[in-house]
Amino acid sequence: DVMHEVFDLADMEAKLAKKLGISNVYIVPGDSDFFPWVKKEMGKKGTLLLKNLLKGEKDVIAVTGGTTIASVAEMMETDSEMQDTLFVPARGGLGEQVENQANTICATMARKAMGQYRLLHVPDQLSKEAHDSLIQESSIRQILELIRSANIVIHGIGQAKTMAERRKTPENILNKLQDEQAVAEAFGYYFNHSGDIIHKVRTIGLQLEDLKHIPDVIAVAGGKSKAQAIYAYITNGPSQMLVTDEGAATEMLNNV
Ligand code: G3H
Repeated sequence: DVMHEVFDLADMEAKLAKKLGISNVYIVPGDSDFFPWVKKEMGKKGTLLLKNLLKGEKDVIAVTGGTTIASVAEMMETDSEMQDTLFVPARGGLGEQVENQANTICATMARKAMGQYRLLHVPDQLSKEAHDSLIQESSIRQILELIRSANIVIHGIGQAKTMAERRKTPENILNKLQDEQAVAEAFGYYFNHSGDIIHKVRTIGLQLEDLKHIPDVIAVAGGKSKAQAIYAYITNGPSQMLVTDEGAATEMLNNV
Protein backbone atom coordinates (compact mmCIF):
# COMPACT_ATOMS: atom_id res chain seq x y z
CA ASP A 1 0.00 0.00 0.00
CA VAL A 2 0.91 3.67 -0.29
CA MET A 3 2.11 4.22 3.28
CA HIS A 4 4.29 1.16 3.13
CA GLU A 5 5.87 2.45 -0.07
CA VAL A 6 6.55 5.87 1.49
CA PHE A 7 8.33 4.26 4.47
CA ASP A 8 10.37 2.05 2.16
CA LEU A 9 11.57 5.06 0.17
CA ALA A 10 12.46 7.02 3.33
CA ASP A 11 14.48 4.04 4.52
CA MET A 12 16.20 3.77 1.12
CA GLU A 13 16.99 7.50 1.17
CA ALA A 14 18.76 7.17 4.52
CA LYS A 15 20.70 4.08 3.44
CA LEU A 16 21.73 5.59 0.13
CA ALA A 17 22.80 8.91 1.73
CA LYS A 18 25.04 6.89 4.04
CA LYS A 19 26.48 4.81 1.21
CA LEU A 20 27.18 7.89 -0.91
CA GLY A 21 28.49 9.94 2.00
CA ILE A 22 26.22 12.94 1.42
CA SER A 23 23.65 14.67 3.59
CA ASN A 24 20.52 14.53 1.46
CA VAL A 25 19.10 11.99 -0.95
CA TYR A 26 15.58 12.21 -2.36
CA ILE A 27 14.13 9.23 -4.18
CA VAL A 28 11.03 9.33 -6.36
CA PRO A 29 9.16 6.06 -7.07
CA GLY A 30 9.75 4.23 -10.38
CA ASP A 31 12.56 4.02 -12.92
CA SER A 32 13.03 6.82 -15.45
CA ASP A 33 14.75 4.40 -17.86
CA PHE A 34 11.30 2.90 -18.46
CA PHE A 35 8.76 5.59 -17.57
CA PRO A 36 9.12 9.22 -18.72
CA TRP A 37 6.88 10.51 -15.92
CA VAL A 38 9.50 9.42 -13.37
CA LYS A 39 11.91 11.99 -14.84
CA LYS A 40 9.19 14.60 -14.45
CA GLU A 41 8.77 13.61 -10.79
CA MET A 42 12.52 14.10 -10.27
CA GLY A 43 12.14 17.46 -12.02
CA LYS A 44 9.32 18.42 -9.69
CA LYS A 45 11.40 17.50 -6.64
CA GLY A 46 14.25 19.59 -8.08
CA THR A 47 12.00 22.66 -8.33
CA LEU A 48 10.90 22.24 -4.70
CA LEU A 49 14.50 22.01 -3.49
CA LEU A 50 15.43 25.14 -5.45
CA LYS A 51 12.56 27.01 -3.84
CA ASN A 52 13.57 25.93 -0.35
CA LEU A 53 17.20 26.93 -0.87
CA LEU A 54 16.51 30.54 -1.91
CA LYS A 55 18.09 33.12 0.39
CA GLY A 56 15.52 35.65 -0.69
CA GLU A 57 17.83 38.20 -2.23
CA LYS A 58 20.36 38.12 -5.04
CA ASP A 59 19.91 34.41 -5.56
CA VAL A 60 21.85 33.12 -8.54
CA ILE A 61 21.03 29.62 -9.79
CA ALA A 62 23.40 27.98 -12.28
CA VAL A 63 21.95 25.16 -14.38
CA THR A 64 23.51 22.54 -16.63
CA GLY A 65 22.13 20.94 -19.76
CA GLY A 66 20.61 17.51 -20.36
CA THR A 67 17.15 16.01 -20.47
CA THR A 68 16.88 15.66 -16.68
CA ILE A 69 17.53 19.31 -15.91
CA ALA A 70 15.23 20.12 -18.84
CA SER A 71 12.49 18.36 -16.88
CA VAL A 72 13.28 20.46 -13.82
CA ALA A 73 12.65 23.47 -16.08
CA GLU A 74 9.50 21.88 -17.45
CA MET A 75 8.08 21.37 -13.96
CA MET A 76 8.98 24.85 -12.70
CA GLU A 77 6.01 26.96 -11.69
CA THR A 78 5.55 30.72 -11.54
CA ASP A 79 6.79 31.90 -8.19
CA SER A 80 6.53 35.48 -6.94
CA GLU A 81 9.55 34.79 -4.72
CA MET A 82 11.66 34.10 -7.78
CA GLN A 83 11.15 37.35 -9.64
CA ASP A 84 14.59 38.60 -8.62
CA THR A 85 16.27 35.21 -8.91
CA LEU A 86 18.85 35.11 -11.67
CA PHE A 87 19.25 31.94 -13.72
CA VAL A 88 22.53 31.37 -15.56
CA PRO A 89 23.99 28.45 -17.51
CA ALA A 90 26.74 26.64 -15.60
CA ARG A 91 29.00 26.20 -18.63
CA GLY A 92 29.22 27.08 -22.29
CA GLY A 93 28.49 24.79 -25.24
CA LEU A 94 29.26 21.09 -24.79
CA GLY A 95 28.05 19.87 -28.17
CA GLU A 96 24.42 19.21 -27.25
CA GLN A 97 21.35 19.73 -29.39
CA VAL A 98 19.54 23.00 -28.65
CA GLU A 99 16.88 21.51 -26.33
CA ASN A 100 19.58 19.90 -24.18
CA GLN A 101 21.79 22.96 -23.93
CA ALA A 102 22.27 24.77 -20.61
CA ASN A 103 21.37 28.13 -22.22
CA THR A 104 18.01 26.86 -23.46
CA ILE A 105 17.16 25.22 -20.15
CA CYS A 106 18.23 28.28 -18.20
CA ALA A 107 15.95 30.54 -20.28
CA THR A 108 13.01 28.11 -19.96
CA MET A 109 13.47 27.85 -16.20
CA ALA A 110 13.56 31.61 -15.76
CA ARG A 111 10.55 32.14 -18.02
CA LYS A 112 8.49 29.53 -16.15
CA ALA A 113 9.49 30.84 -12.73
CA MET A 114 9.06 34.45 -13.99
CA GLY A 115 12.61 35.15 -12.87
CA GLN A 116 15.61 36.74 -14.61
CA TYR A 117 18.23 35.14 -16.81
CA ARG A 118 21.51 35.79 -18.57
CA LEU A 119 23.00 33.60 -21.26
CA LEU A 120 26.53 32.59 -22.12
CA HIS A 121 27.11 32.60 -25.85
CA VAL A 122 30.19 30.56 -26.58
CA PRO A 123 30.55 28.02 -29.35
CA ASP A 124 31.19 24.31 -28.80
CA GLN A 125 34.64 22.81 -29.41
CA LEU A 126 36.64 25.91 -28.61
CA SER A 127 40.28 25.92 -29.67
CA LYS A 128 42.77 26.93 -27.02
CA GLU A 129 43.35 30.25 -28.84
CA ALA A 130 39.64 31.06 -29.17
CA HIS A 131 39.07 30.14 -25.53
CA ASP A 132 41.89 32.35 -24.29
CA SER A 133 40.74 35.34 -26.30
CA LEU A 134 37.02 34.91 -25.49
CA ILE A 135 37.61 35.04 -21.75
CA GLN A 136 39.22 38.46 -22.24
CA GLU A 137 35.98 39.90 -23.71
CA SER A 138 34.32 42.18 -21.17
CA SER A 139 30.79 40.92 -21.86
CA ILE A 140 31.95 37.35 -21.32
CA ARG A 141 33.87 38.30 -18.20
CA GLN A 142 30.78 39.89 -16.71
CA ILE A 143 28.62 36.84 -17.20
CA LEU A 144 31.41 34.55 -15.96
CA GLU A 145 31.55 36.58 -12.78
CA LEU A 146 27.82 36.13 -12.30
CA ILE A 147 28.10 32.40 -12.93
CA ARG A 148 30.85 32.05 -10.34
CA SER A 149 28.76 34.00 -7.84
CA ALA A 150 25.98 31.37 -7.99
CA ASN A 151 24.75 30.23 -4.58
CA ILE A 152 22.89 27.23 -6.02
CA VAL A 153 23.89 24.86 -8.81
CA ILE A 154 21.54 22.22 -10.21
CA HIS A 155 23.09 19.69 -12.54
CA GLY A 156 22.68 16.35 -14.28
CA ILE A 157 24.94 13.30 -14.29
CA GLY A 158 25.27 11.10 -17.35
CA GLN A 159 26.85 7.82 -18.32
CA ALA A 160 30.18 8.63 -19.97
CA LYS A 161 29.61 6.63 -23.16
CA THR A 162 26.03 7.81 -23.66
CA MET A 163 27.03 11.44 -23.23
CA ALA A 164 30.12 11.23 -25.43
CA GLU A 165 28.12 9.66 -28.24
CA ARG A 166 25.23 12.12 -27.89
CA ARG A 167 27.72 14.99 -28.18
CA LYS A 168 29.34 13.62 -31.33
CA THR A 169 32.70 13.38 -29.59
CA PRO A 170 35.68 12.74 -31.92
CA GLU A 171 36.84 9.13 -32.29
CA ASN A 172 40.19 9.63 -30.51
CA ILE A 173 38.42 10.96 -27.42
CA LEU A 174 35.85 8.15 -27.52
CA ASN A 175 38.73 5.67 -27.54
CA LYS A 176 40.45 7.42 -24.68
CA LEU A 177 37.24 7.35 -22.61
CA GLN A 178 36.90 3.65 -23.28
CA ASP A 179 40.56 2.79 -22.65
CA GLU A 180 40.61 4.70 -19.39
CA GLN A 181 37.24 3.31 -18.31
CA ALA A 182 35.29 6.54 -17.98
CA VAL A 183 31.91 5.82 -16.38
CA ALA A 184 30.40 9.19 -15.48
CA GLU A 185 29.92 12.64 -16.95
CA ALA A 186 28.95 15.92 -15.29
CA PHE A 187 29.60 19.57 -16.29
CA GLY A 188 31.43 18.38 -19.42
CA TYR A 189 33.95 16.39 -17.36
CA TYR A 190 34.32 12.63 -17.75
CA PHE A 191 35.30 10.50 -14.73
CA ASN A 192 36.34 6.93 -13.98
CA HIS A 193 34.96 4.86 -11.11
CA SER A 194 37.34 6.50 -8.60
CA GLY A 195 36.34 9.99 -9.70
CA ASP A 196 39.55 10.76 -11.59
CA ILE A 197 39.07 13.15 -14.51
CA ILE A 198 39.65 11.32 -17.79
CA HIS A 199 38.64 14.12 -20.12
CA LYS A 200 37.17 17.61 -20.01
CA VAL A 201 35.35 19.49 -22.76
CA ARG A 202 37.05 22.84 -23.33
CA THR A 203 34.48 25.51 -22.62
CA ILE A 204 34.12 28.37 -20.19
CA GLY A 205 31.92 28.68 -17.11
CA LEU A 206 32.00 26.73 -13.84
CA GLN A 207 35.01 24.51 -13.41
CA LEU A 208 34.96 21.57 -11.03
CA GLU A 209 37.05 23.42 -8.45
CA ASP A 210 34.59 26.36 -8.46
CA LEU A 211 31.87 24.06 -7.15
CA LYS A 212 33.62 23.76 -3.80
CA HIS A 213 32.83 27.40 -3.14
CA ILE A 214 29.14 27.14 -4.01
CA PRO A 215 26.93 26.57 -0.95
CA ASP A 216 24.25 24.34 -2.50
CA VAL A 217 25.02 21.89 -5.27
CA ILE A 218 22.14 19.63 -6.29
CA ALA A 219 22.51 16.64 -8.62
CA VAL A 220 19.44 15.26 -10.38
CA ALA A 221 19.90 11.90 -12.09
CA GLY A 222 18.03 8.62 -12.20
CA GLY A 223 17.39 5.39 -14.09
CA LYS A 224 18.95 2.01 -13.34
CA SER A 225 21.36 2.49 -16.26
CA LYS A 226 22.94 5.51 -14.53
CA ALA A 227 23.58 3.81 -11.17
CA GLN A 228 27.31 3.34 -11.68
CA ALA A 229 27.73 6.87 -13.07
CA ILE A 230 25.83 8.49 -10.20
CA TYR A 231 27.77 6.47 -7.62
CA ALA A 232 31.15 7.35 -9.15
CA TYR A 233 30.39 11.05 -9.39
CA ILE A 234 28.62 11.56 -6.07
CA THR A 235 31.09 9.62 -3.91
CA ASN A 236 33.95 11.71 -5.31
CA GLY A 237 32.32 14.99 -6.34
CA PRO A 238 31.23 18.13 -4.50
CA SER A 239 27.42 17.69 -4.69
CA GLN A 240 25.70 17.42 -1.32
CA MET A 241 22.16 16.73 -2.50
CA LEU A 242 20.92 14.08 -4.88
CA VAL A 243 17.49 13.70 -6.43
CA THR A 244 17.19 10.25 -7.97
CA ASP A 245 14.66 7.53 -8.67
CA GLU A 246 13.94 4.09 -7.27
CA GLY A 247 15.53 2.39 -10.29
CA ALA A 248 18.94 4.00 -9.76
CA ALA A 249 18.68 3.86 -5.97
CA THR A 250 17.91 0.13 -5.84
CA GLU A 251 20.76 -0.63 -8.20
CA MET A 252 23.21 1.55 -6.23
CA LEU A 253 22.22 -0.09 -2.94
CA ASN A 254 22.34 -3.66 -4.22
CA ASN A 255 24.79 -3.90 -7.08
CA VAL A 256 27.29 -1.02 -7.10
O1 G3H B 1 24.71 17.19 -19.13
C1 G3H B 1 24.09 16.13 -19.28
C2 G3H B 1 23.91 15.27 -18.12
O2 G3H B 1 25.13 14.97 -17.54
C3 G3H B 1 23.07 14.06 -18.38
O3 G3H B 1 22.06 14.27 -19.34
O4 G3H B 1 19.94 14.31 -18.11
O5 G3H B 1 19.98 13.89 -20.55
O6 G3H B 1 20.81 12.17 -18.97
P1 G3H B 1 20.64 13.62 -19.23
